[in-house]
Amino acid sequence: MKIYSKPDSRLRHNRKSRCLSSEADKAKSCFLQKSLAKCRVVGHDRLLECQPRTLDFYREHAREYCRFTANLSVGELYIPFLKEISKGSRILDAGCGSGRDTKAFSAKGFAVTAIDASPQIARMARDLTGQPCRVLSFQEMDFRNEFEGIWACASLVHVPRRDVSDVLRRLARALKPLGILYVSLKEGKGEIITPDGRLFCNYSLTEYAELLTADGLFKVAKVWKSKAVDSSGQVWLNFLARKTA
Ligand SMILES: C[S@@+](CC[C@H](N)C(=O)[O-])C[C@H]1O[C@@H](n2cnc3c(N)ncnc32)[C@H](O)[C@@H]1O
Repeated sequence: MKIYSKPDSRLRHNRKSRCLSSEADKAKSCFLQKSLAKCRVVGHDRLLECQPRTLDFYREHAREYCRFTANLSVGELYIPFLKEISKGSRILDAGCGSGRDTKAFSAKGFAVTAIDASPQIARMARDLTGQPCRVLSFQEMDFRNEFEGIWACASLVHVPRRDVSDVLRRLARALKPLGILYVSLKEGKGEIITPDGRLFCNYSLTEYAELLTADGLFKVAKVWKSKAVDSSGQVWLNFLARKTA
């Protein structure tokens, strides 16, 4: 199997982000240059071999990655998700990255539990939010019936295809009955490795909707596509899925 890998469009998208200090700009520019290396084709064996490199990437680039993703303006995405849960309820920020969304939800009065598989990223999230962030992978989560909402923004993209059903089961188990899950993923086909070494698993809308609804785990409440604001044309898939009672 051949897999075509291309740069992460979120990075390209972020090229235009505003209001960064010159130090942050420098770090960002250097980071982007590395990330925007040429597209390449890799074999499946290489893909499997490279999978742990996703976390290597976040270890090596935690500071600069968090520095610019913390400033992204994603407030529009919160609206449909927060409409589904009552004030003060518990949210799991799954793969929280910089802690940007944990911070925003906490400020709105929600009780947020933040997790991330990368210890270096978790440290950055703690610094930003002043709250705990557990170092925990999706594959190891064992929450039961604890959250009204789960926020998985651009994080399940890194779950290898073979782990997806198990991870979705764990997410469903973590939710209370009728709890709501938000997921965003890149539209595309199959597993790829970006030039920076990260594994991304991309989907079509119907493909991921089928995974969410398999075994009656979730009902899809809303799906929509959003476009990166750069010329990459990368389309993001957004899902709100309700745990069945
Ligand atoms: C593309 S970033 C998105 C971060 C944040 N949600 C945001 O929207 O800015 C993906 C995050 O998922 C984390 N991650 C990757 N694989 C993971 C796994 N298996 N379990 C938990 N977190 C993971 C990474 O460390 C990283 O912080």
